[in-house]
Amino acid sequence: MDKLLITGGRPLAGEVAISGAKNAALPILCAALLSDEPLVLTNVPRLNDIGTMLKLLAQMGVKVERDGDTVTLDAKGLDNPLAPYELVKTMRAAVLVLGPLMARVGHAKVSLPGGCAIGARPVDQHIKGLQAMGAEVQVEHGYIDAKVGKLRGARLFTDMVTVTGTENLMMAACLADGETVIENAAREPEVVDLANCLVSMGAQISGAGTDVIRIRGVAKLHGATHRIMPDRIETGTYLCAAAVTGGQVRLTGTSTNYIDSVVDKLMDAGCEIGSERDAITLKAPARLKAVSLRTAPYPAFPTDMQAQFMALNVVADGTAIIRETIFENRFMHAVELIRLGANIRIDGNTAVVTGVDKLQGATVMATDLRASASLIIAGLVAEGETLVDRIYHLDRGYERLEEKLGALGATVKRVS
Ligand code: EPZ
Repeated sequence: MDKLLITGGRPLAGEVAISGAKNAALPILCAALLSDEPLVLTNVPRLNDIGTMLKLLAQMGVKVERDGDTVTLDAKGLDNPLAPYELVKTMRAAVLVLGPLMARVGHAKVSLPGGCAIGARPVDQHIKGLQAMGAEVQVEHGYIDAKVGKLRGARLFTDMVTVTGTENLMMAACLADGETVIENAAREPEVVDLANCLVSMGAQISGAGTDVIRIRGVAKLHGATHRIMPDRIETGTYLCAAAVTGGQVRLTGTSTNYIDSVVDKLMDAGCEIGSERDAITLKAPARLKAVSLRTAPYPAFPTDMQAQFMALNVVADGTAIIRETIFENRFMHAVELIRLGANIRIDGNTAVVTGVDKLQGATVMATDLRASASLIIAGLVAEGETLVDRIYHLDRGYERLEEKLGALGATVKRVS
C-alpha cells in the first residue's frame, strides 16, 4: 500500500496546471450511454475513479478509447446494462449509469453503492424520481433492478439537494416522453457542465444551475464533443496548501468562477487573491487568521473543501467554528490532525478549531478523499516528516499530486 512522505516547512511557490473536474467527468462519461453515436471528451483528468468508470462502461459494451486527456466513448454496442458490486463498491458514482440506462434501454441492474467513510449516502431520491417517471424498481440482494417500457416526463421534487440524484434524473429525462421538471435541484457547476454536454448532444434542457430544471424529452441524442470544466475542488485544495505554507502560487487552467465562497474565506484569512481569465494567483499572509464556515449546497461553502479548510484553521491565529451540514460523518481527518498537534474539539456536526503555532510531523492515516488532502496540507507545514498512509484515497481524486506539489517546491515522495 502506497504512502506519501512529506517534509514540511517550505512555502509553496510557482505555477501548476489544474486538471478537469472529477465530479463533472464522472456523470458526463455516463451521458455517453444515452446515444448510439460517439461522445468525445477533452480535459478528462487521469484519476483512479475515471479509470474505474471507463472499466464499468466497457463491460457494458461501450467502446472506450483514451488518448491523453481525450476520451472517446461509443455506446452503439451497449448490451449489458449491469453495474456489478465489485466495481460499484470502489466508486459510488457508478450509480450514475442508472438514469442513462433506463432512458436508453429501459432496464438497469446497479449494485447499491453502500455507504462510505463519510456517511450512509443512500440513493432513495434517485429511485423515487425514476419511479415517478414510470419505472418499476426492485431493491433486493444488494442490487437496484429497474425496468420500464419508456420513461414518461414527470414533476419531481427531491427531499434534499442531491448532486448525483439531480444528474441521474436529468439524464433519465432527456429521452422520456414529455416534459420533466426537477424541483429542489442541485445548482452545482458540475450539474451545469453535464447539462451543457447533454444540450450539445441534442437534449432540450433549461434552468440548469437553478433549483428548477426543465427537460423536454427527445427521440434520440446524437454524438458531440465536450471539454470538461476545471476542477474547482482541486483548485481550492492547492489554494489552501499555498495559504497554509505561507506561499505564493499561480494556478492555470482554472478560474475563481464557481469557488466564490472559498475565495471569500481565503481573503478573510488574509490571503491576496488575483483573478485572471484562465488562472488564479494567491499570496499568503505571514500569519493566517482563523475563519469559521458552514458547509451547504452550492453556491454556499462546499462540503468537499471542509477538510482542507480545517487544516488551514489548525495553524491560523484564533478560533474557528466549522459546521458540516451535508454528511453525517465528515470529520475523520480531525483525529489525524490532532496527532500532528492540532487543537480541535468535535461536538456532533460542529468542530471548534483553535490555532496552534506549529505542528509536528507524525504518521497519519487517510480515511477518505478530502480527508487525505487535509492531511497532506498539514504535513506541508508540520515540522519534520509526516507519513500519510492509505493514499489510494488520494489517487481517486487528485491527478499526479506529488508531481504537482513537487513543481511548487514541496518535498513529497511516494513510498511503498
Ligand atoms: C456528490 O456526491 C459528490 N460526488 C461528492 O463529492 C460531494 O461531496 C457531494 O455531491 C455533495 O456536494 C460526485 O459528484 C461524484 P449528494 P453525492 O447526493 O451526489 C443525502 C468528493 O469528495 N442523500 O449531493 O453522492 C446524502 O446522504 C465527493 O469528490 C440522500 O439521503 O452527494 C447526503 O447527506 C464526496 N438520499 C446529502 O443528501 C439520496 O438519494 C447530499 O448528498 C441522495 C442523497
